Amino acid sequence: MGHKSVAIDGPSGAGKSTLARKAAEVLGFLYVDTGAIYRTLGLLALERKVDLSDTAAVKALLPQAEIRLAHDSGDGLQHMYLCGRDVTGDIRRPEVSRAASAVSAIQAVRDFLMETQRSLAREHDVVMDGRDIGTVVLPEADVKIFLTASPEARARRRCDELLQRGTPQDYETVLAEIVERDRRDISRTAAPLRQAEDAVLVDTTELDLEESLQALLDAVRGGLER
Ligand code: DC
Repeated sequence: MGHKSVAIDGPSGAGKSTLARKAAEVLGFLYVDTGAIYRTLGLLALERKVDLSDTAAVKALLPQAEIRLAHDSGDGLQHMYLCGRDVTGDIRRPEVSRAASAVSAIQAVRDFLMETQRSLAREHDVVMDGRDIGTVVLPEADVKIFLTASPEARARRRCDELLQRGTPQDYETVLAEIVERDRRDISRTAAPLRQAEDAVLVDTTELDLEESLQALLDAVRGGLER
């Protein structure tokens, strides 16, 4: 029997990774954070001082990009390895977010990282989160979810998070960044963010974390039973 797969896509800041990880835990599935894979390549590009707007230079990096995911580190986290080095913490730096966004817009990069993602879904029951999982990576996923929230709700949550980290930012700035990032994600040519036709929409605008998880699990279970 084949493995089960749950594809979760949506804009950044909708709580995808937190909710997808928790849902995977409840279901006993492997959680795969595909953004971390793009981040790892973004880190390599930064370290090699590659001009991120130079598509040919980024492509030339690919043969050297030995990227590995590990899910058996004992802390329940997905660890990322770049050429044998654990870069799980490094890839969360803000400059890596920007580099990941740049490299992920290149089609050759997406093609190169596709097999890494698909092979995980062949070998495990997975909850995989990203931007194009239901549309491109796993078009045959058993369940597809499009997880979103209004830009205002995402901006409020992001402000709360930044405040807790001791790096507060004002709401209008955060909201403007979110609106701009949505525009870039939706309008890019390579794998633009969009809801798959057969995806279930889960909108967490009016929900807190517990309610969001419940809504997500209801949608996933409903889909797996079909
Ligand atoms: O979800 P995240 O912030 O960790 O993603 C990092 C970057 O990678 C972000 O710019 C979007 C991109 N990405 C993508 O293009 N496709 C995916 N499946 C996952 C992430």
